[in-house]
Amino acid sequence: MSYYKILGLGTEPFSTNPDPMFFYESRGHKQALTNLIIEMRLRRGLSIILGDIGTGKTTLSRKLIQALSSREGFVFQIILDPTYENEKDFLVSLVRTLGIENILTANTISVSELKETIQNFLFQKGVKENKTMVLIIDEAQKLSEASLEVLRILLNYETNVAKLIQVVLLGQLELHAKIINIPNLIDRISFKYTLNPLDQDEVGEMITYRLVQAGYKLSKNLFTGDAIKEIYRYTHGYPRKVALLCHKALKNIVMNNRMIVDDKIIRHLMDEEAKNGWHLPEKMILAQKSNF
Ligand SMILES: Nc1ncnc2c1ncn2[C@@H]1O[C@H](COP(=O)(O)OP(=O)(O)OP(=O)(O)O)[C@@H](O)[C@H]1O
Ligand SMILES: [Mg+2]
Repeated sequence: MSYYKILGLGTEPFSTNPDPMFFYESRGHKQALTNLIIEMRLRRGLSIILGDIGTGKTTLSRKLIQALSSREGFVFQIILDPTYENEKDFLVSLVRTLGIENILTANTISVSELKETIQNFLFQKGVKENKTMVLIIDEAQKLSEASLEVLRILLNYETNVAKLIQVVLLGQLELHAKIINIPNLIDRISFKYTLNPLDQDEVGEMITYRLVQAGYKLSKNLFTGDAIKEIYRYTHGYPRKVALLCHKALKNIVMNNRMIVDDKIIRHLMDEEAKNGWHLPEKMILAQKSNF
């Protein structure tokens, strides 16, 4: 029997997959999500979400798709790893992502023909079919300067009232250093936001939210208040670290026939990690806490 079933849960509560079902709306995540939805609906063009490792960027993008896909007219394309050798490589990948790769049969196709094809396609979708085309690029810190320039050109495709493509870049903090050097891209950012780690109360709320989503009936708390304090102290509120530690804690209590995670268990788990040389680095505080 799975460990979570023993605890009366229907599914695993602390998986580290970016499952939108487990997306807890902290103040920061909610602000990012609400603004992204508005930007997409108004077809404002470029939005950028920055965040340190494991702060919830990928999960946020899944939640955005979930929130908008019930609305008519949104078409989402996702690029998970935007590593491209050069401009043409990126354009070819875009053509494939957009599903218009039939034009690639002529292998002599030029960069300008690729751009023109994409522009015509976006015009057809955006104006003739009234669709909102959304391109989500995760791991956007991997975009090269040449690829960022391609995006700038895509964002030039517009009607009098709207952009023909909505671009959402989600990237680790080094993305900031890249785009800050490209003023004509910075000028085009319609919404920018930095996801920060959760505060202690939010860590508690995220844990409860995920347990409830997994089917836990809150007759008594599975994690004590002191356990949550310790979790916050060790993870500094980074959602992935919180999820991993909670997963370990639940496994631990099941293996030891217990029903409650207290602070001692959390300290024990962290001591074990430290002994094995896997302790969390002390300094994980965001280099840049404020929004850019
Ligand atoms: N708002 C949230 N509510 C609940 N869980 C979250 C939230 N944000 C992130 N998580 C959890 O944290 C983990 C990491 O999230 P995610 O993969 O989205 O982070 P990321 O910022 O994309 O990380 P990376 O920089 O490594 O790509 C996932 O297990 C996810 O479920
Ligand atoms: Mg990610």
